[in-house]
Amino acid sequence: MAAERVFLNEVALRDGLQSEAVFVPTEAKIRLADRLSAVGLAKLEVTSFVSPKAIPALRDAAEVLAGIGRRPGVVYAALVPNEKGAERALASGCDEINLVMSIGEAHNLANMRMTCEQSLNQFARIMALVAGTPLRVTGSVATAFGCPFEGGQSLQRIFWAVERYLGLGFHAITLADTVGMAHPRLVAEVCSQFLRSFPGVPLTLHFHDTRGMGLANVMAALDAGARSFDASLGGIGGCPYAPGATGNISTEDAVHMLEACGADTGVDLDSLLAVARDLPGLIGHGVPGRILAAGKRTDLRPRPA
Ligand code: COA
Ligand code: ZN
Repeated sequence: MAAERVFLNEVALRDGLQSEAVFVPTEAKIRLADRLSAVGLAKLEVTSFVSPKAIPALRDAAEVLAGIGRRPGVVYAALVPNEKGAERALASGCDEINLVMSIGEAHNLANMRMTCEQSLNQFARIMALVAGTPLRVTGSVATAFGCPFEGGQSLQRIFWAVERYLGLGFHAITLADTVGMAHPRLVAEVCSQFLRSFPGVPLTLHFHDTRGMGLANVMAALDAGARSFDASLGGIGGCPYAPGATGNISTEDAVHMLEACGADTGVDLDSLLAVARDLPGLIGHGVPGRILAAGKRTDLRPRPA
């Protein structure tokens, strides 16, 4: 049987750097993007076109997108919250924008300073703006598996957002576990219902490992039929407007697990690990990724004498 092809979207430059205290210099971001472009990842979420007051760490979004080399076959995406962000993203020439709304109203207000309806109004204007351009649009349903202020969200609420997104003409959907509240049984249920209810709609899962369930959730989603995941180099990341948020699943740990399980991620793990090894130097602290610390399962140690 042919290996399952799994597609990975690297989000360290966006989800990762947005929560770092240090400003990683623009040149270093460009170099990191160029190195990540070369390891076989399907997509890079390179930056955010958000308010520089909200996320100062990504205030150089346009310069980063202008500076990176575009590798054929790799999709270059950016997060966008509103019409102003979409105008900036269009001018930058990225391939795809990721429009984000939390289905927990309380988190959407804290993070985007908008109600859900205000976010959806912005998205409708953005779709008019990008009509006729080659820009692809992904809609992220943030806090899909739980809001830090409101708790768990119903399947009905998740699908309400998906239906609104599809009604606006979005090309793909990401279900995001913003603060690591998803668990494998919930993920299996949501993914299988999604794939049954929205056949042919590209689905990506975005997991944070806040409570140690991130990779278990990937396996549950994979078994349910999902084939596309966000992940962050070193396992850094988190929403600055969600109390207690911590890192995404680590890209190298996800590649290591998926390949061990027989999936084909298209990623060269050794090359990815070489990039990950330089990440602590860029952000000034260690990272949570396990394979960086432990080595691969096939890295044998010398026998005791
Ligand atoms: N890019 C750049 N600047 C933007 C912007 C964008 N997308 N959207 C708004 N601004 C600017 C406005 O021009 C205005 O600037 P000024 O003070 O110099 O006049 C200022 O930001 C405030 O604009 P306003 O529309 O009132 O926004 P707000 O203060 O209500 O904030 C968001 C709304 C969405 C822009 C802001 O909350 C945001 O960027 N959130 C993103 C948070 C995030 O990235 N979270 C993690 C990822 S999920
Ligand atoms: Zn995230």
